[in-house]
Amino acid sequence: MTSTTDDEIYYDPFDFDVDVRAHEVWRRMRDEAPIYRNDAKNFFALTRYDDVLECLLDTDTYVSRFGTTLDMMSDDEFPLPMFIFRDPPEHTLLRKLVSRAFTPRKIDGLEARIERVCGRLLEPLEDAPVFDFVEAFSSLLPPTVILALLGFPEGLETEMRASVDGGLAIDEDTTTGSRVLVEGENLGNAVYEMIPDLCRERRVNPTDDLLTVLATHERELEDGSTRPLTNDEIMGYVALIAGAGSETVARMLAWGIVLLADHPDQLRELGENDALIPNAIEEILRYEAPSPVQGRRVMRDVEFHGQVVPAGSNLLLVNGSGNRDERHFADADRFDIHRDIDRHLSFGYGAHFCIGAALARLEGRIGLAQMVQRYGTWDVDHAAIEWVHTSTVRGYKSVPLTV
Ligand code: HEM
Repeated sequence: MTSTTDDEIYYDPFDFDVDVRAHEVWRRMRDEAPIYRNDAKNFFALTRYDDVLECLLDTDTYVSRFGTTLDMMSDDEFPLPMFIFRDPPEHTLLRKLVSRAFTPRKIDGLEARIERVCGRLLEPLEDAPVFDFVEAFSSLLPPTVILALLGFPEGLETEMRASVDGGLAIDEDTTTGSRVLVEGENLGNAVYEMIPDLCRERRVNPTDDLLTVLATHERELEDGSTRPLTNDEIMGYVALIAGAGSETVARMLAWGIVLLADHPDQLRELGENDALIPNAIEEILRYEAPSPVQGRRVMRDVEFHGQVVPAGSNLLLVNGSGNRDERHFADADRFDIHRDIDRHLSFGYGAHFCIGAALARLEGRIGLAQMVQRYGTWDVDHAAIEWVHTSTVRGYKSVPLTV
């Protein structure tokens, strides 16, 4: 934690204390420092809804290729072949290839499998009236679903989750007060080692999974010739999708469970009318954005609220704050599953809009519906809740539930 005077605003997305009090800090930033500057960590931040949206939509001025979280932003372009760290037009081409796997038809086709997985994870808990919702359910569902989408054999979800957690976790560096990435196994584990063999097999026997799309794609080169994707490129896609789609969904579900425990009347309403669940998921996403900060490099001098942000600056777009901006959402700090939401910012916006949004929503709806059907209500042991600390998500690592 960094010490500040009582009335000074201090924001750092990796400060564990700020993370817990984020909404109080973001409110002050929106009202008193709508363009915020942190000299020590060398970044600017925007927190108002309109400002965040404007920047997300302008990929010429606010670029992703130098990294999108503060810990990875440097003067060099991000080296890994992942399209979240690329800008149009290259981004458009790389994204188009996998967007085929995320069409509404493909995602709807996963519904029965997601229902089965939820049932398989929740059934054994019926005799355990107290359990950790994150450990037992919300952190296992997303990797299982992603492995299905990719076309991996069943049963590797625990390994996949360990790999993703290791790759994104951050630790407190107590000497400098800054956060450093914890070394994870990341691409080195058994799941990733299977990829070359699985791809070889898909080239011979194509199916309708994402690995087949990647294994059979011919990348066009500048001279007009084509070549298959390299193993590194394929692993880049897999690592990006696994990373982006696991931690986030786990957080969304955990936020939902806690928010509904804190609003028992609204939880009861969901039990009486499951048609309310889709909008409840949107309100959960709006209220507590699982991925609340998107970093960009500014490519030309720009001005916000009378202050120049010079070309070359790191700019944090705090979409989690935009979602609570009273200038856009009436009574924004009230959690209301009936709220009419035109557009929240939890999936970003524009060119980088979350490619997995439909899948995340489906997992949210099915996961929540099954919890409501099985248990009706639940209580959270707030004192025992633990926070997770990664470079990308905000939320809980452990949520002890009594059902
Ligand atoms: C509640 C769950 C989720 C949340 C809150 C979320 C949030 C986000 C956000 C904010 C972005 C934009 C990043 C930026 O502008 O730099 C994004 C992009 C992305 N998300 Fe998600 N995401 C979720 C689930 C998923 C899932 C389930 C998948 C895949 C299975 C996924 C894959 C991706 C990918 C590949 C990108 C990069 C898109 C691009 O750069 O064009 N996400 N997500």
